[in-house]
Amino acid sequence: MRLDHKVAIVTGAAMGIGAGIAERFVQAGAAVVVFDINADGARQVAERLSQQGRTLAIHGDVASEEDVQGAIDQTVQEFGGVDVLVNNAGIEGPGLLADYSSADWDRIQAVNLKGYFLFAKHVIPRMRGRGGSIVNISSVHAFVSYVGNGAYDATKAGIIGLTRALALENGAEGIRVNAICPGYIRTPMTDDWLSIQPDPEATLKQVLSFHPLGRMGTPRDVADAALFLSSEAAAFISGTFLVVDGAMTAAGH
Ligand SMILES: NC(=O)c1ccc[n+]([C@@H]2O[C@H](COP(=O)([O-])OP(=O)(O)OC[C@H]3O[C@@H](n4cnc5c(N)ncnc54)[C@H](O)[C@@H]3O)[C@@H](O)[C@H]2O)c1
Repeated sequence: MRLDHKVAIVTGAAMGIGAGIAERFVQAGAAVVVFDINADGARQVAERLSQQGRTLAIHGDVASEEDVQGAIDQTVQEFGGVDVLVNNAGIEGPGLLADYSSADWDRIQAVNLKGYFLFAKHVIPRMRGRGGSIVNISSVHAFVSYVGNGAYDATKAGIIGLTRALALENGAEGIRVNAICPGYIRTPMTDDWLSIQPDPEATLKQVLSFHPLGRMGTPRDVADAALFLSSEAAAFISGTFLVVDGAMTAAGH
């Protein structure tokens, strides 16, 4: 599973799963663009990984079409093209839907769903004629819901539909599009969520008990799946999703 001579853009790569994917891709030989709304974080990750390969930090918001277009243009200028896109930048949006403000709804849709659409829309013309791979980070929340997570769940289910549609529309150009559905992965997002639970320690214990494999996932677990789907090893895999959850959903959680 190598990405030698490939150019990859990873969104939301300043921390968590995105940073893990950026690191894994650099180790696999790719030139990697670390795109994030957190400019300092993106710069730090790109700088750290530049010891191992070619990297570029780009500051932007996935929900801004101007930022997305600019990032893709800058990538092509710097590295000569784009072969792999990992749409990963996402936010949480806790709250009951009946109490949810339409402004909060618009923001979570703009980042978690429209941002994926915008990056795909603008990267596809760059992949035509050379092929490519798009990996969309969804979630097990595409299939299972917990009370108080509805807006997030809607975006994660939407990503699966977007993935299928993009795969159909672009298969003839050699562009493969797949999703990854992680379960609980230990990242700043998970820590923030744990911190707002009434009893974070008890919730953590309960979460661990959900996993037949006996642990939470790591960014590296998701990064390995992203590398597989982006590599030649997955040459005939498109329009589908890979669940990376330590058998949590198989156990009914
Ligand atoms: N952590 C989990 O358990 C888990 C499980 C399933 C799916 N996911 C998904 O994986 C992805 C990454 O999650 P994480 O846990 O690493 O999150 P995280 O909060 O730890 O990191 C998210 C990164 O995205 C960036 N970001 C946020 N909004 C952005 C925007 N508008 N434009 C550009 N960058 C932006 C943040 O600055 C941050 O660097 C998300 O799509 C999330 O929904 C996470």
